[in-house]
Amino acid sequence: MSTAFHRLLSVEAVRITEAAALAAARWMGRGDEKAADHAAVTAMRNEMEHIAIDGRIVIGEGERDEAPMLYIGEKVGRCADGDFACDIAVDPLEGTSITARGGSNALAVIAMAPRGGLLHAPDTYMKKIAVGSEAAGAIDIQASVTENLYRIAAKKNMGVADLTVCVLDRPRHVDIITEVRAAGARVFLIQDGDVSGAVACAVEESPVDVLMGTGGAPEGVLAAAALLALGGDIQGQLMFRSDEERERAKAMSIGDPDRVLRIDDMASGNVVFAATGVTDGAWLRGVRYVAGGAQTESVVMRSTSGTIRNITATHNFVKHPRGDRGRI
Ligand code: FBP
Repeated sequence: MSTAFHRLLSVEAVRITEAAALAAARWMGRGDEKAADHAAVTAMRNEMEHIAIDGRIVIGEGERDEAPMLYIGEKVGRCADGDFACDIAVDPLEGTSITARGGSNALAVIAMAPRGGLLHAPDTYMKKIAVGSEAAGAIDIQASVTENLYRIAAKKNMGVADLTVCVLDRPRHVDIITEVRAAGARVFLIQDGDVSGAVACAVEESPVDVLMGTGGAPEGVLAAAALLALGGDIQGQLMFRSDEERERAKAMSIGDPDRVLRIDDMASGNVVFAATGVTDGAWLRGVRYVAGGAQTESVVMRSTSGTIRNITATHNFVKHPRGDRGRI
């Protein structure tokens, strides 16, 4: 694949996340998670049709029998001879319940890589630890919370008391929170959306230094794709709720299902990552409706160049009515 095409692909990636965000945002605060998710999935799937890729979904809406669109293994894109063969990880709406209740930090997300560049993660949980570039290489998911805090603080030339740890607000994280407090660091709780939480560790003027805890495995891979471009770091370990889940993971040929997954086990090579805000967040603004259209805020990055582009777009629904995909 030519560099020129890969550069164009980053613009296409943003078109895809914009379409999903525009569709999902119509459902903000309307109390209907399923409708919000369906709108995002349909818009994202339709937008992909126009792109000169031979795409394969490796992380999507679930297995073929449970998801009508963007299921794992689905072929997407134009799929003509010579089109770029790529693996694609998507979360058309990262934060379905956030959107339905009108909360913050919901995103539409995609990562694209040459075949084999993204881990085929099963739809299970993943224990994660993620940091930005200043603490890359300092983390060890098998070490204690306290030890990780000391390692991160030393690498960042800060005190442990200066660190802020982003944690999903779940009962399963009580022990982590207790240990963070005992070590003297601060806790920043998020209700949902740990892709945002992980990436937040690596963006400028970030309010958090490290993400710790267990969230979705697919979200872990998407976060790894972004952190690869941002120079950050993430480690993960799959957490299974049943033997069946463990067997499914083995069938996805990820090797030893209990092994520590490092950033380059999850995302490697020439990866494009894009996200568009659905609802307002610390990282990206959500969709704003204006007379005759809407505005979106997106970010797109390529791991090989490390360039991070923030894209604010104004969508004109008068000239391009199809752009208003989510109109209810
Ligand atoms: P959805 O987009 O599926 O609602 O996921 C939101 C999310 O908060 C993820 O960011 C996170 O990885 C996962 O759910 C955590 O799972 P759980 O809500 O089961 O603790």
